Amino acid sequence: MIVREHIFNIMRKSAKLFGFMPIDYPSLESMDLFRTKSGEELLSQTYSFIDRGKREITMIPEATPSTVRLLGAKKNIPKPVKWYCIPKLWRYEEPQSGRTREHSQFNADIFGDASPVADAEIIGLACETLNGLGLKGSYEVRINHRQIMEKILDSLGTKNITEGLNIIDRFRKESREKMIENLSGNLSSTDNAERLMDFISGKVQASKADERIREFFPNIPFEQFSENMNETISALEAWDYNDIVYDPATVRGLTYYTGIVFEGFDKEGKYRSIFGGGRYDKLSSIITGQELAAVGFGMGDAVLENLLREKNLWKAEAARNRYIIITIAEEAQKFSLKLAGNLRARGIEAATSNTHKNLSNSLRSATANWYTHAIIIGKKEMESGKVTVRNLSTGEQKETDTSGIN
Ligand code: HAM
Repeated sequence: MIVREHIFNIMRKSAKLFGFMPIDYPSLESMDLFRTKSGEELLSQTYSFIDRGKREITMIPEATPSTVRLLGAKKNIPKPVKWYCIPKLWRYEEPQSGRTREHSQFNADIFGDASPVADAEIIGLACETLNGLGLKGSYEVRINHRQIMEKILDSLGTKNITEGLNIIDRFRKESREKMIENLSGNLSSTDNAERLMDFISGKVQASKADERIREFFPNIPFEQFSENMNETISALEAWDYNDIVYDPATVRGLTYYTGIVFEGFDKEGKYRSIFGGGRYDKLSSIITGQELAAVGFGMGDAVLENLLREKNLWKAEAARNRYIIITIAEEAQKFSLKLAGNLRARGIEAATSNTHKNLSNSLRSATANWYTHAIIIGKKEMESGKVTVRNLSTGEQKETDTSGIN
């Protein structure tokens, strides 16, 4: 939990830096909220049940529909709004590294702002969070545009766009042969399937997206969408978030995305996605009947926890000074309590050891409980007003005035 707390703290801090406000909502929702909105895969992963009022209920598998429902119920809030939350979510997935059946997910969404800068703010917030955790340089953001992919699928004679996107979404999970077989069933010819496969097999620097698309599909009018994407990319560059690539295989599994889509991955490619999101301008009209531009992302805690443990990046949080005051003479008890009070009043983390074990047992328990320093107080210390501070990782001891503790 020390690692997770650290992750949540950085998530909240970054959200506030970008002007987002916190929200929350119930963990149980009507199953209907997710039908036709989230897509087949997510629906098949819900923990759902019939409640005592005979309603079909589910533990929420994602946050986006609830967020949209909430905003729909508060019609009078002036837009745009920027909201964040860190709910627990439940998905009946195969538990594996970075994927659990219950996880916490940082969600940030902007409603009522259709500009490419809003897209950039969302991606920028995701990057800022990872940078804040010390992961700058260790991750890449893969971006793409749903409408560009739809135009390409159309031009290749797709029988069903949603199905075509779902096949592309499995690019990194299937062999080339299987991909070609599936794409051939969706497109008008095997030649087209191979061309699409070649196209989605290459990631390029984000600023080279247009070139890459034109090289494979010279006759498709994609510029109106790529202009949008390029504005987002240049805003990100202006803010110094540079690890962005154009990846035509990133299309996202959820059905509701309508514009830019993106996912974050560790550069070494060891883990599942760190975060994912995109623009979804039509979901609000399906759920609430009101049109509302929307863009956002979800970032789980599980892959981050793996990355921070692997790179030893979470100890910084645990390393802040935490004092335990150990009294070795009964007469010094009052002095110790007073000192604890004084330290806390100065904003210093301090607790007292109250069980009167012998000193070595007290020190052992202090180390096991993550204290960084022990303040040892006996008769001598009480009389002189100077205390002995022991660094629990090095064993080093020094005498100091209580005002020297920080
Ligand atoms: P998603 O891609 O399903 O999108 O999930 C987003 C992120 O949540 C993933 O990249 C991953 O970090 C984390 N995640 C998902 N499933 C699990 C799991 N079983 N265990 C651990 N972590 C997991 C969405 O959920 C969208 N609602 C995101 C969004 C918000 N789009 C717009 N606004």
